[in-house]
Amino acid sequence: MCGIVGYIGDKNAAPILLEGLSKLEYRGYDSAGIAVAENGKVQLHKAVGKLENLIKKTDGGKKMTETIGIGHTRWATHGKPTENNAHPHAANRFTLVHNGIIENEAALRKHYLEGVKFNSDTDTEVIVHLLEKFVKEDKDVKVAIAHIIGELEGSFALAIIDKEDMNTIYAVKNKSPLLVGKGDGFNMIGSDAMAMIANTDTFYEIHDKEFAVITRDSIEIFTSYAKKVERDSFHAEIDVSDTEKGTYPHFMLKEIEEQPLVIRRIMQQYSDEDGNLVVDKDIIKDIKASDRIYIIACGTSYHAGLVGQTYIEQLAKIPTMSYIASEFVHNMPLLSKKPFFIFISQSGETADSRAVLVKVKEMGHKCLTITNVKGSTLSREADHTMILHAGPEIAVASTKAYTAQMAVLAVLANALSDNPMNLKYELAKTATVMESLCNNRELFHELSKEFFATTRNCFYIGRSTDYYICLEAALKIKEISYIQAEGFAAGELKHGTIALIEKDTPVVAFITREAVNLNTRSNIKEVRSRGAKVLTISLKRISAHSDQIVIGDVDEMFAPLVSALPMQYLAYYAALIRGCDIDKPRNLAKSVTVE
Ligand code: M6R
Repeated sequence: MCGIVGYIGDKNAAPILLEGLSKLEYRGYDSAGIAVAENGKVQLHKAVGKLENLIKKTDGGKKMTETIGIGHTRWATHGKPTENNAHPHAANRFTLVHNGIIENEAALRKHYLEGVKFNSDTDTEVIVHLLEKFVKEDKDVKVAIAHIIGELEGSFALAIIDKEDMNTIYAVKNKSPLLVGKGDGFNMIGSDAMAMIANTDTFYEIHDKEFAVITRDSIEIFTSYAKKVERDSFHAEIDVSDTEKGTYPHFMLKEIEEQPLVIRRIMQQYSDEDGNLVVDKDIIKDIKASDRIYIIACGTSYHAGLVGQTYIEQLAKIPTMSYIASEFVHNMPLLSKKPFFIFISQSGETADSRAVLVKVKEMGHKCLTITNVKGSTLSREADHTMILHAGPEIAVASTKAYTAQMAVLAVLANALSDNPMNLKYELAKTATVMESLCNNRELFHELSKEFFATTRNCFYIGRSTDYYICLEAALKIKEISYIQAEGFAAGELKHGTIALIEKDTPVVAFITREAVNLNTRSNIKEVRSRGAKVLTISLKRISAHSDQIVIGDVDEMFAPLVSALPMQYLAYYAALIRGCDIDKPRNLAKSVTVE
């Protein structure tokens, strides 16, 4: 969702802001804008649609000279994606950009801003008028910002510039991500490190309800009581080339094909000196002291959680259940006596998952976050963190983070087991089979043409962990190709959904578990007799002659990691054939920072 960049230094700010915003495009947005300032004058530039439109409109900022500025990509929440609603928003003295939602905006308007003329439909504009008012009353910008933090309810990351002080950017954070980047002769702010990594790899966190005062040469962080805090900087381990597509046409294809490498990296990162896969002793101790594990996640991460739950139950013998965060938070089941929570989140910023984390922490329960982003909100607020080591995932559709989540959950489950398996051997085999699938991508392209070029809908069926893959397969094809898709437990079809099967309805069946092979094959016959066009994906040792995709053998337990690849490729090619915007699908955001 919305992205923020700010720069203050000696260089022309506009191209740096536009470049930073391009690195935040993956988060999802529908309009963009920058504000650059010099000699007491603030220039606003905004455009609806792709960032490309703003870049064209400003000629890449090349002819501008201002050395301080803030930029924003907006994912509309309050008001349509129009230029008026696009950020930055300005009042008389201050100009700001905002990521998040102000929940009490109506009350604030009524209480403080009666008679003020608003130019947009956004909640954000309330903040800039409020700041204007508080500065007049409080006579000091820092005090006014602290005042604002006390008044605003909801999530807000803000970057603010002041016409009367062109040497300062103010950054404010609560529940929405924001980092400060430290440079040599310049400083920056950004929604994540990727927005700044081309300029610096040294960062400061701002915690919730804190704000930072940033000049060319200094960074000061304050609490909401305007009390200065000391904070150590950290280095982000991001390779700039990881944020580029290289020779690939899309990030999604690049990320699909990075999966063997990611599995090997996980093996390396979780190995001890003797080469054994290990997990931090404190994590094991806390989990072993619990009587039940609750996995909390959203979307793809939830689907990985379902597979992880079977790993933990089978290997560690601890009862485990996965829940969708946005449901769990308002409809919490009766908890066991000693629950332990595992949050799975690629971004580590998902607001729905965080809402549960905040609640269970208040209840005094221990938790672990499994995330791709070190230092992310969910990581900082949990008792423990396990990193996915998948490298930056830029395409909105999650691929490599999904398989990394399952692999890390396998490492955890095995480390909890009293009778561990040779996981290193199994994961190495899994990576090799993944590689052979990547070498066969043309097959998936051809099958996508045959099955998904024009269809309005499609179904994925499977049993046991194949069912979990079906849920993810349906999500994947829906989000990037807009084909209406459903993932079903194969045995459930005849209880209602089979009524939807017509002549040539595409049905993709996953068969990787020997115990249910024949059952799923019976379900295939049932849909075929009703006209369905069936594509079968199976593991070699239980494959049939007619199966179109046969995956090299791995332990059945790890079949979800390998069958993920064909379904990701099928979705990718379906979207390609149908001319969709693969890396930035409509209406979606990579990092969902509002509930
Ligand atoms: O960053 P998270 O893993 O918490 O994100 C959760 C979902 O928003 C995410 O998995 C989403 O479903 C993906 N776009 C799916 O490809």
